[in-house]
Amino acid sequence: MPRTEPIKAARGVRDILPDAIPLRRRTEGIAAEVAQRYGYQEIVTPVIEQRELIDRVGEDTDAVAKELYRLEKRGSQNLALRPEATAGVVRAYFEGGLTKGPQPSRLYLIGPMFRHDKPQKGRYREFYQFNVEVIGGSSAGFDAEVIELARDWLTGAGLDDLRLELNSIGDDRCRPTYLERLKEYYAPLRTELSADSQVRLERNPLRLLDSKLPHEQAFKERAPKISEHLCPECAAHWDAVRRLLDSAGIEYVHNPYLVRGLDYYTRTVFEFYPGGATGQQDALASGGRYDGLAAAEGWPSTPGVGFAGGIDRVVDQLAARPAEVAMKPAAEVLVVPDGDASLAAAEVARICRRVRSTAVDYEVRSFAAKMRLAGNLGARWVVIMRPAQATQRVARLREIATGAESEVGWDELPARLGG
Ligand code: HAM
Repeated sequence: MPRTEPIKAARGVRDILPDAIPLRRRTEGIAAEVAQRYGYQEIVTPVIEQRELIDRVGEDTDAVAKELYRLEKRGSQNLALRPEATAGVVRAYFEGGLTKGPQPSRLYLIGPMFRHDKPQKGRYREFYQFNVEVIGGSSAGFDAEVIELARDWLTGAGLDDLRLELNSIGDDRCRPTYLERLKEYYAPLRTELSADSQVRLERNPLRLLDSKLPHEQAFKERAPKISEHLCPECAAHWDAVRRLLDSAGIEYVHNPYLVRGLDYYTRTVFEFYPGGATGQQDALASGGRYDGLAAAEGWPSTPGVGFAGGIDRVVDQLAARPAEVAMKPAAEVLVVPDGDASLAAAEVARICRRVRSTAVDYEVRSFAAKMRLAGNLGARWVVIMRPAQATQRVARLREIATGAESEVGWDELPARLGG
């Protein structure tokens, strides 16, 4: 039975239409090129992971607690669509035996992530990330390296007005004491906090510093700052990261309230924003160190650091500017059978495709309409085929820019099309 309403895409997901592809592929291409220039190898992990693995990202993390796409049980497995890639990459590093390769492992991944968040511009339910991970390295040099790599990707893609925010959130040794202090500080303010913040006070007080609510800003400003309560090891790491960034000429802002939305972070956390913008949904790339994640997944304790860039957000920013990427024609050559020359047209198209992308207009329509199609495709040449000429294996080749037209033997076409 025909439906009265046509079926549309699910809420919060988008089609990437052909016109948007060149800029997207270019942005992804620059990501891969920059990662490889830094010695990173590509990895592909499944979009589906076990729920248990994803829980290790942090059960109080919004992406896990509120936004996870759970799949129905299949057998004994409880599966979900990945909301982020780091947990899966760490799993694959151990499961795939990369522990036996050169350490640390430098890996990158480009692929879709899924979060059932409230859709808005820049926040999609299916979105693509460029992930970069260094697994098996604890030195501050790796933290600075992934930050520099993120910067090179963003500037290479064409975004050079950036703001880098940086913080250290300590580790298992210093954070618990700090969290006690934070709780003590917030306890008398409890009734003035939002319902969400009251839950955070109990379960994950660090996230109180993430609050965007106007009336909670003043509380934050007077709260003890984690970067002032680091243990000597974390303080030394924090100093080293900043020294390395200074010597690389990478400017940053120390944001003492930057704690990040995922629970697995230790020590360094960072976010890149477009210059001038604020607010979580605007972060173009973000990441940090996750020294406890491998052990949380049940593998031997192994440090790691990395980031993920939001490909959709970067492309949105670039697309808002005057066209930078030259549109690639859908087909460089259009073969136009005039009259009954379809079979011959298919054969000529095959010859042209040896050197140029080629489409055939099989539709019966006026010659003028066929020429308009050539223009819309962005074609540079039209090959006009008439049945009488086809029997002699010749056609007329027209160059659209100049209008110059000449008779050409089919087999000369590749040479004439500049192949
Ligand atoms: P994240 O901050 O959740 O971190 O996401 C990283 C980036 O993905 C964000 O900065 C943003 O550009 C993009 N992003 C996040 N959510 C959305 C969305 N709903 N729509 C569009 N873009 C979005 C992570 O995922 C960590 N795994 C990063 C990491 C890697 N940390 C260490 N290694």
